[in-house]
Amino acid sequence: MSAIETVLVTGGTGQTGRTVTDLLHGRGVDVVVASRQAPQDPLPSGVRHTRFDWADDATHDEALRGGIDSIYLLPPPLDPDPVDVVDRFLGRARAAGVRRAVLLNSSAFPLCASGLHAVRLTVQQMPEWSVLLASGFMQNFLGEHPTAIAVRTHHEIVAAAGDGRMGWIDAEDVAAAAAELLTRADHSSREHVLTGPEALSYDRVAVTIAAAWELPVRYRSISPTERGAQLLDAGLPATFVDALVGADVLTANGAEDRVTAEIPQLLGRTATSFAQFVRRHSPSPEPTDRRNEP
Ligand SMILES: NC(=O)c1ccc[n+]([C@@H]2O[C@H](COP(=O)([O-])OP(=O)(O)OC[C@H]3O[C@@H](n4cnc5c(N)ncnc54)[C@H](OP(=O)(O)O)[C@@H]3O)[C@@H](O)[C@H]2O)c1
Repeated sequence: MSAIETVLVTGGTGQTGRTVTDLLHGRGVDVVVASRQAPQDPLPSGVRHTRFDWADDATHDEALRGGIDSIYLLPPPLDPDPVDVVDRFLGRARAAGVRRAVLLNSSAFPLCASGLHAVRLTVQQMPEWSVLLASGFMQNFLGEHPTAIAVRTHHEIVAAAGDGRMGWIDAEDVAAAAAELLTRADHSSREHVLTGPEALSYDRVAVTIAAAWELPVRYRSISPTERGAQLLDAGLPATFVDALVGADVLTANGAEDRVTAEIPQLLGRTATSFAQFVRRHSPSPEPTDRRNEP
């Protein structure tokens, strides 16, 4: 089988897609970055951008032009039922000669999120495929993620996960695993449950953040009903809210209390721990703080 030479990175301007792009480019792979908006920062020399919108099939053929071998597949964000559009896109990809796709999915979607499970089967129609079932991203506590904003402004983490533990993972480790699976020669098609090196409750996460960032952060566990109302108030679509609340309930029931060896096996190094992660990053300043800057 010939080597993978050209990779299309959907969601290529997002947090995992940017790292996938940089890692592949660094290995001499041709990369095409796909997203609706052109990237804000210049792309590495030789990497090109293609305008790609899941909602606009006309952009799909254009993205698949030029001999794509492998695709990093980020389904349409916040769409609880992405199967039809992903299926159409992958059908076009196969017709264009693409042989491999690596799907990013979550390990914590509840059974009620049937569309988010079904997309795992869709990708299995590719000649070569991988499904990444990633645990919660440590990056949820940084930047403009609603969890991060609550940490900075109210010094609290709110979830309906009780004292359930989760194998929090650095999204950079997810991206590094994806880059490996997108291009490795000895590929075997299967699902990979990706976690960090330890399973931590939200209480433990709050203690770790408090120590590193010197913020009096606490965890407040609320009921699934309260959590659903909160996410709806935050403007998330109702169907996706069900999936997120269901993920909290799964966590509360212990379904996410696990650590896998996938990251060390794929990358030949240990996965980043939560304590290392928060030591490496500082919480981004509030937008209001920035307004006060001279
Ligand atoms: N956060 C977690 O804890 C967690 C855990 C496990 C799995 N995940 C999964 O991670 C995925 C998100 O990955 P990420 O964090 O790397 O992405 P991200 O930072 O949220 O970026 C999303 C990317 O998708 C593009 N995009 C948005 N809408 C699009 C559309 N309609 N058509 C084409 N492209 C579109 C965005 O660019 P444009 O806006 O310019 O198009 C951007 O490049 C989700 O599928 C989620 O299920 C998350």
